[in-house]
Amino acid sequence: MANVIILDHPLIKHKVAIMRNKTTGTKEFKEVAKEIAMLMCYEATRNLSVEDVEVETPITTTTCQMLSGRKLAIVPILRAGLGMVDGMLALIPSAKTGHIGLYRDEETLEPVEYYCKMPSDISERDVFVVDPMLATGGSACDAIKLIKARGAKNIKFMCLIAAPEGIKKLTETHPDVDIYCAALDSHLNENGYIVPGLGDAGDRIFGTK
Ligand code: PRP
Ligand code: URA
Repeated sequence: MANVIILDHPLIKHKVAIMRNKTTGTKEFKEVAKEIAMLMCYEATRNLSVEDVEVETPITTTTCQMLSGRKLAIVPILRAGLGMVDGMLALIPSAKTGHIGLYRDEETLEPVEYYCKMPSDISERDVFVVDPMLATGGSACDAIKLIKARGAKNIKFMCLIAAPEGIKKLTETHPDVDIYCAALDSHLNENGYIVPGLGDAGDRIFGTK
């Protein structure tokens, strides 16, 4: 069964409060999304394997540990997932980035795919799928299905705000995928928006409303 990890560090809580506030403008919203993604990345990479390496310091030679070279990929779900990529790359700069374009049909709330471009060796990589919002879970489930169809096996999903409905759907559909979120909210409203949520993440990141 999937693990659901809620990253309720005080710094993350503080920054989520800024994102929820409707008076927070596009510039700050984008900056804070990046900062939260960086903090979440620190936790979501906790289990990466390391190996011993000999290092010569200015004083002596010593044994240190470095990442053992497992290849990583970050896959944002367009558009809003783009707002989490730079924060992730700040900590894991050698990761490759794939992109999946999905939007929710406003009537049916079903995801509609319009773009998919993955690193050619995605099947060999540990994949972090990122999207600020896990609402009905339709977009995350479809994105992960597309990535699995290309052979990737070790996948984690990272979001800022999750609804219980999305957690249920994602854990049932992809029980092998661990979910990291900064906050677990109350429910979805009649329009499929997360309550209390932060509104439309894509519009707030890109200033399109
Ligand atoms: C938002 C969000 C997720 C999706 C979540 O994207 O960024 O991708 O909705 O909803 P779900 O869990 O019910 O599928 P949206 O469809 O608004 O597209 P956009 O990022 O292009 O604005
Ligand atoms: N997508 C968003 O951007 N916000 C929500 O609350 C739900 C889906």
